[in-house]
Amino acid sequence: MKVLIFGSGGREHALAWTIAKSGRVTEVVCAPGNGGIAGIARLVPVSLSDLDGMVQVAIAERPDLIVVGPELPLSLGLVDALQALGMRVFGPTKAAAMLESSKSFAKRFLQRHQIPTANYAVCTSAEDVEKAIEFFHAPIVVKADGLAAGKGVIICQSRRAALEAAQGLFSGKLLGSKEQQLVIEEFLLGEEVSFLCLSDGKHVAPLVAAQDHKRVGEGDTGPNTGGMGVYSMDTLLEPEMQEWVMHHIARPAIAGMASEDTPFVGVLYIGLMMTARGPQVLEFNARFGDPETQAILMRLDCETGCHLVDAMEACIDGRLSETEFRWKPGASACVIASSGGYPGSYETGLEITGLEQAAKVKGVQVFHSGTTLAGGKLYTNGGRVLGVTAAAPSLREALDLAYEAMGKIHFDGIYYRHDIGHRALNKSKNER
Ligand code: AMP
Ligand code: GLY
Repeated sequence: MKVLIFGSGGREHALAWTIAKSGRVTEVVCAPGNGGIAGIARLVPVSLSDLDGMVQVAIAERPDLIVVGPELPLSLGLVDALQALGMRVFGPTKAAAMLESSKSFAKRFLQRHQIPTANYAVCTSAEDVEKAIEFFHAPIVVKADGLAAGKGVIICQSRRAALEAAQGLFSGKLLGSKEQQLVIEEFLLGEEVSFLCLSDGKHVAPLVAAQDHKRVGEGDTGPNTGGMGVYSMDTLLEPEMQEWVMHHIARPAIAGMASEDTPFVGVLYIGLMMTARGPQVLEFNARFGDPETQAILMRLDCETGCHLVDAMEACIDGRLSETEFRWKPGASACVIASSGGYPGSYETGLEITGLEQAAKVKGVQVFHSGTTLAGGKLYTNGGRVLGVTAAAPSLREALDLAYEAMGKIHFDGIYYRHDIGHRALNKSKNER
């Protein structure tokens, strides 16, 4: 079986690494990939914003299975275009991916299907916002409607700040492009959990839960990023709570999409806030999370023959009910090494050393997010550069291994958070 993966990040490295473990897979191709993926897959250059270019890659490669990693190609309709050519693709259509690509669509969908989420208003002008915010207490959350790579959410401490943020989004000052629509939302207090499920449009198969660290600074301070680290362990979502989320959120969402003739096939990433009034949906993503995927797939037990490719094929064929994932007990953690300056401006093209020593630490995998390979050497090529990931019987051990490996890696300006997993570690300390 030949598998083609679209994407270039740590998520795609983890996907390629897992997919390549299947005995059925003979070749993995990644477009465009990165310096780390080059070690396990053949790379084909393409721009992830060039729909026609991606279709041409698929036609030339004739793979048996195509996996679309990032949100941009999904929102452009890559899955629809490939399906129209008779190809087997894992991922949602453009219409189903609107759960991620339009926050107003997602909020109205949640409301239509009575799935718990924060109160909201959709606004198309500053006048709309002025009227709507009268019904909200500070802090007020202002969200751009479309894809914004984690930069479209502003938490405002007053009504005035919310109005200013909205004006900044409408005028194009905040994101560079003028927003036509935005969502005003009630601020939710609680712990965030990333809960990812595979779906064939009808059935839902959950993956193990994870917790991301979106802020750049220690102790969850500073600006939002794509994610600075993540961990996964079973206690994040106890079995009863998971069943509650499946019953009240995951299954109704998949059934709701099917009932609206836009069945969702692929990975539904449910961003949850565990509030005092129960779990609420913060956001949907129509794809695997990054870096959640790195930590989650480290826990997938592939030795017993449960393979991701089989599950992806089951989704395409509408027979996911037969699939059950087996997970390694314990925990995993992924710590992101980023370029100095990220999420602001940063330098690229800096040589990375120490990766061989890091890979020798038992239980560790280094997934590449933003690297390139040139003349046998690896160089930085993005804000998030590496995801140093480890699995172990406990979170403490997984983190120790990840940080031990991280200590062996070097590039100029390397930055990483030292406190990944702090919530879970402090909780277990307090319980003792
Ligand atoms: P989103 O892209 O909608 O997930 O928002 C990005 C981040 O902003 C989330 O991971 C939360 O940390 C925060 N956030 C979004 N919506 C809310 C909300 N209603 N209340 C509190 N925090 C939020
Ligand atoms: N880690 C957050 C995301 O993938 O959207």
